[in-house]
This record gives sequence, C-alpha cells and structure tokens, in this order.
Amino acid sequence: MSIPVVWKTPGEVRAWVRALQRRGQTLALVPTMGFLHEGHLSLMREGGRRADVVAASIFVNPTQFGPKEDLSTYPRDLEGDLQRCGSAGVAGVYLPEPSTVYPPGYQTYVNVEEVSQGLDGDKRPGHFRGVATVVAKLLALFRPEVALFGEKDFQQLQVITRLAADLELGVEIVGMPTIREPDGLAMSSRNSYLSAEERQRALGLSRGLFSAQRLAAGGEADVAKLLAAIRQELVKVQAREDYVEIVDSSRLASLSRLESGAPARALIAAFIGKTRLIDNVALPLGAQALS
Ligand code: PAJ
Repeated sequence: MSIPVVWKTPGEVRAWVRALQRRGQTLALVPTMGFLHEGHLSLMREGGRRADVVAASIFVNPTQFGPKEDLSTYPRDLEGDLQRCGSAGVAGVYLPEPSTVYPPGYQTYVNVEEVSQGLDGDKRPGHFRGVATVVAKLLALFRPEVALFGEKDFQQLQVITRLAADLELGVEIVGMPTIREPDGLAMSSRNSYLSAEERQRALGLSRGLFSAQRLAAGGEADVAKLLAAIRQELVKVQAREDYVEIVDSSRLASLSRLESGAPARALIAAFIGKTRLIDNVALPLGAQALS
C-alpha cells in the first residue's frame, strides 16, 4: 500500500491529469467529504475496476451546508483518510481549501432544477445547488471517464446523473449500493455523532425500510400501508421524522401505489437526538414471488 499524492490546487491536479492523458490512461474520480468508511472505500475499489487510475477528493464543501447545519463540526481525520485511500488503491487525493474552490468574487453556481426539488431539496434549501456546483467543478477539473457515487444519497445521485448528462461532461456516473454495518445501519460519517444509546435507536431507519421492502416483495402495493410500516419503526425508537416518502426511482415523484416494472424507492430522513440521518431502499414489487 502506498500513501497517495496530495494536491492542494487546481494547477497541480491539471498537471497530473495531463500526464495521465499523455500516457493514455483512464481515470475514475470519487468525490468525498472525508471521515472515510467502507462505503467510500467501496466506490474507490470499484473505480479501480473501471479505470486505470483512481483519484479522490476530500472537501467539506461549505456551499452545501445550511446556516444551522454541521459545517463547523463535520468530523475530520485527514491522516487516517489518506491511509484508507491508499489501501483502496487511490493514486492521488485533492484537498483544496474552501478559499481555493470559492475565491473572493466567486459567483457561478449550478442548479439542477427538477430532481433537486422535494425530499432533501425541500428540507435543506440550497443543498443540491452546493452539491451540483462542487461536483461540476470537480468533474471539469479532473475530466474523468468515470465518477462514482453512493445510492446512500439517492437524490444526490439523481442530481449528479442529470447534471453530467445536461452539461455533456462525457463522464459515466456510476451509482453504487449502500454499504451497511452488520446490524443494518447505513454507514455514514455522521454516525460518529451518535451516542451508544442513539446508535441503537438509529437502527429504526433501516428496520423500517427493510420492513417496507419485505411487504412490497410479498405483493403489498399500497404506499399508505408501506409508509405506515416504516413510521411504526421510527416511532419505536423515538426518531423525529423529517420526511418519509415512496417515490418513483428516476423522477422522484410521489407514488400512491407500486406498479410492477416501475422501480420505486422508499426514502427516510429522521433525527435521532440532534443527528439527522438519511437512508433509502429499492422496493421491488412482488420480488418474493419471482425468486
Ligand atoms: P460524502 O458524504 O463524504 O459521500 C461521498 C460519497 O460516498 C457519496 O457518493 C456518497 O453517496 C457515498 N457514500 C456515503 N455513504 C455510503 C454508504 N454507506 N455506502 C455507499 N456509498 C456511500 O456525498 C458527499 O460526500 C458530498 O455531497 C459530495 C458528493 C462529495 C459533494 O460535496
């Protein structure tokens, strides 16, 4: 395992990317905000299977945090992260300062209109504008053949897929399955905010989603019943619901019934104590009957 090279400025990245292109090598990019876990590392390893070289970025992007959110307390572990990147085969990591990404006078933002609405788009105003802006900048800088993102942030994945297509960036956006702890909790850098007692209660999110998934697999198509099953688990752990929704997987429009052959997704955002967690699962209707 080798520690990846670190770039602090766009000029350093560009010089490296040019050399890579001269050698005819393909590039996979994995953007992150750091405090890396197995979810992030799974994207990096898959990047290595899909391209010759993998690069990552670690940047806690201020424009995607609301004024009352956790920008200043977001967990950091730079040394450990560089080691983890190295072990996942990452060749280089971009670690810009906020003032490098957004220098004085900065005024260009990317707005993906429809899929940024609803769900986290409504609950976190401006969030996806910040995400789309930083991801567009990273894709324009690295010009990778492939960029990998997690389904854990399902709406974000749709926003980025749309942005790459609409801006004709010529990059393949790959969505990767959510990596979970053995007991079902979706891995997240924000899980580090949870006390031991909250960590147990946080299981209500995945339990609710899995219970809806089982019902759908058994043929339950009534969204009201599926939502009730999810909320029952949230209530048990005293989670404060921010949203619970069942939507079609591509447009993210609310559904009242599942239809076979039309992919649907159940999504939750909920507070456990002060910590806001999100999770989601696919809801294949009648999958049990098929398998
Ligand atoms: P961050 O939360 O650090 O996540 C970086 C990438 O890892 C995202 O694509 C996210 O979906 C993925 N990821 C997180 N948890 C995962 C899990 N349990 N399983 C699989 N993948 C997981 O998402 C961001 O950063 C930022 O918004 C970013 C895209 C970097 C823009 O700032």
